[in-house]
Amino acid sequence: MTDNFASVLAETRLLPVLSVPSAATAGPLAEALAAGGARCAEVTLRTPDAEEVLRTMAAHGGLTVGAGTVLTPEQAERAVAAGARFVVSPGFDPDVVEKCRELRVPVVPGVATATELMRALRAGLDTVKLFPAETLGGPAALRALAAPFPGMRFVPTGGITADRVPAYLGVPAVLAVGGSWMATADHLERGDYAEIQRLTALAVARSVT
Ligand code: 3PG
Repeated sequence: MTDNFASVLAETRLLPVLSVPSAATAGPLAEALAAGGARCAEVTLRTPDAEEVLRTMAAHGGLTVGAGTVLTPEQAERAVAAGARFVVSPGFDPDVVEKCRELRVPVVPGVATATELMRALRAGLDTVKLFPAETLGGPAALRALAAPFPGMRFVPTGGITADRVPAYLGVPAVLAVGGSWMATADHLERGDYAEIQRLTALAVARSVT
């Protein structure tokens, strides 16, 4: 993985993952994340407003914004057109990877097994998401899975909370930690941007190298 997204991830080692029900909240959300010290954010394509959210958050300018839950090449294309600067998938699909290459955006596909890692390696990738990280066995599982793949960097995501961040970042193969705990649907529903900023700042404090 090259370019700005890789350096942003390497710098803060934190990827907030967002499912945003209403585009109306995207502006204040971007503001709260940036004020908390986040440098990037993944907008999952799990809500009807996701493309509009991407557009709004990308326009904020303070964050490198990408798309998550990208399941098809068509979704990758639409997300990039809406302003996504990187693409994340829950699993490994070579067609999505190929499309992202065509579009010249970094892609971070999900893996959960050594077989999927071998596929990612053969596709020329050097960074993958481990998903769902906590259910798969957390940092211990990640360490074991990473051992045969010395060049591969991981972004563990799925079930991670603030208290678990240091344990993941203690694994040398981990590039950054992802998760939604900093900005949940509940925070957004309550409009609690102060809490989003507080949780983001706390996570940044735990993750910056
Ligand atoms: C993802 O899409 O990466 C995950 O759903 C985020 O996982 P979390 O909500 O458990 O943090």
